[in-house]
Amino acid sequence: MRIALTINSELRELEVAPGETLLDALRGAGYTGVKRGCEAGTCGSCVVLLDGTPSFSCLLFAAACEGRKVTTIEALGAPNRPHVIMSAFAEEAGVQCGYCVPGMVLTTHALLEQNASPSEEEVRGALDGHLCRCTGYVKQVRAILKAAERLAEERAAGKESSR
Ligand code: FES
Ligand code: FES
Repeated sequence: MRIALTINSELRELEVAPGETLLDALRGAGYTGVKRGCEAGTCGSCVVLLDGTPSFSCLLFAAACEGRKVTTIEALGAPNRPHVIMSAFAEEAGVQCGYCVPGMVLTTHALLEQNASPSEEEVRGALDGHLCRCTGYVKQVRAILKAAERLAEERAAGKESSR
C-alpha cells in the first residue's frame, strides 16, 4: 500500500507492506539514523518524533502514520553541521558507540521545546526508556543540561540583537 506522510518537513510517499513498522519503512527509505535495537519498545534506539512527540518507531505500523509528521535525526543535523544538542553530547563525552544517541537527541529536542530549562531530575525522567550500554548516563545528562543553557544563551543573544 502507498502512504503519504511528512518526513523531516518533506512530503513523502512510501510503499509499505501491511504490518510493516515505521522503523522498517524509515530505514528502507534511507533514514538510517533511526536505529534498530530491541524491536520491543524497551531500548529507545528507534525513537523518532511523531508530530513532535518522542515515539518508538518499532512499535508503530507505518500505515498508521499516514498524514503524520515524522522527524528523524537527519532533520536536526549531521557531523559537519551538528545541532547544539549534538555538539553538547560530543563535548561532554555522552557518545561512545553512539547507537543510542539519535533517539536520545530527538527526545532531548522534544524536552527542550516543552521545557527550556529542565532540572536534572526532569532530564533523567525524559531519558526514561532510553538505554545506553556505554556511558552510564551521567555524561549524557550533563550534555543535555549544557545544551539547554546554550540554547537559552542563543535565544537571549537573538533577542538582544533584534532590539
Ligand atoms: S528498537 Fe524500538 S524501543 Fe528498542
Ligand atoms: S553510547 Fe553506546 S549505547 Fe549509548
